[in-house]
Amino acid sequence: MHLLAGKHIVLGLSGGIACYKSAELCRALIKQGASVQVVMTEAAAQFITPVTLQALSGRPVFSSQWDARSAGGVDNNMAHINLSREADAIMIAPASADFMAKLLHGRADDLLSLMCLARPLDKVPLILAPAMNREMWAHPATQRNVTQLRADGATVLDVGVGDQACGETGDGRMLEPDDLVYELQRFSTPKVLAGQRVLVSAGPTFEAIDPVRGLTNLSSGKMGFAIARAAHEAGAWVTLVAGPVSLPTPRGVERVNVRSARDMQQALDGLARQATVFVSAAAVADWRPAEAVEQKIKKDGSGQVPSLSFVENPDILAGIAATPRALSRQLYCVGFAAESHDLLAHAQAKRARKGVPLLVGNIGPDTFGQDDNALLLIDEQGSTELPRASKLTLARQLVVEIARRLPT
Ligand code: CTP
Repeated sequence: MHLLAGKHIVLGLSGGIACYKSAELCRALIKQGASVQVVMTEAAAQFITPVTLQALSGRPVFSSQWDARSAGGVDNNMAHINLSREADAIMIAPASADFMAKLLHGRADDLLSLMCLARPLDKVPLILAPAMNREMWAHPATQRNVTQLRADGATVLDVGVGDQACGETGDGRMLEPDDLVYELQRFSTPKVLAGQRVLVSAGPTFEAIDPVRGLTNLSSGKMGFAIARAAHEAGAWVTLVAGPVSLPTPRGVERVNVRSARDMQQALDGLARQATVFVSAAAVADWRPAEAVEQKIKKDGSGQVPSLSFVENPDILAGIAATPRALSRQLYCVGFAAESHDLLAHAQAKRARKGVPLLVGNIGPDTFGQDDNALLLIDEQGSTELPRASKLTLARQLVVEIARRLPT
């Protein structure tokens, strides 16, 4: 489920050292199945050659409004019209301070600015990825321009923070190519969860035995992280409560890190009060050692193993599903079931036991740590299979299934 497959993106480059990242962006878009038409300003061509971008996009690059070549299959010498009419979106990356100032005034003295001005406002989104020195970014003139460009209907993305090519450190770096691909994917996603506050739990929990040892499981967190990302793409505010995993936080998602089941319960119980959807994808450890020892348990040389006793952890999902907000469906709860066999029967029983309207079953040993999975959705109507696919594809499908079931 490549969201950009078949989309036509006009990638505009204005002048800035971040142009080197645009080559990578172009490649990433093509990999996602999009077609890319590159348009460059003269300044951009000082930083990276049109040859590179032609080779990567597989199409001639346009730079001049006087270019008489056929554009968009039309020979009327109006590249600024034809190129924008074909586009599903125009992304300017990098958008320099100068280029944004020009757009703001509706000036149109080169092909790229002319094309932006000539784009059908209601059909072709214009997305700008600013890139500049931190002082230029912080300057009141630039900030004023950003505000006005947004008011004029453009999407001006945020900037990255860190080391800059000029040697200074601060705000103003262009977002990384992966983040820009994500922004375009977000544009292409129907906003089925607009206005929803989605809470997702993900990953394993870690139950300490002593300061260096513990009880955990093989959950990688990938499914929960993919659900958080898919919910954000679909327009929700998303908070992700993550057990100990080292996955990067999906863009735009708020993350709370926890370790033990009880930490996770405390975080989720609080956050569930504001949420409208809770997806419990975490593999919560069922038991924890009855006593966590403060100092490392040492071998005493006798060959005797320590005897550990366990107590059951709270069932976080069942607790949240029993709150008045969940029972009245102001909070829609979705549980997961990791089973090793008899998936349908176990998942149906678990749905009833947890008191949730929707339960998502999967075979634990087939999915833990993998990039793909297969899901079985159980609700009061029956069961639906989501066949094996990447976890992100399944997460996007699951988000649509959840949205369909939300009370209107
Ligand atoms: N869950 C939870 N708190 C627990 C255990 C599980 O909130 N202490 C949630 C999981 O996040 C998942 C669902 O309950 O959404 C089912 O988890 P699973 O591990 O499959 O089932 P268990 O309830 O642990 O039952 P069992 O291990 O016996 O299959």
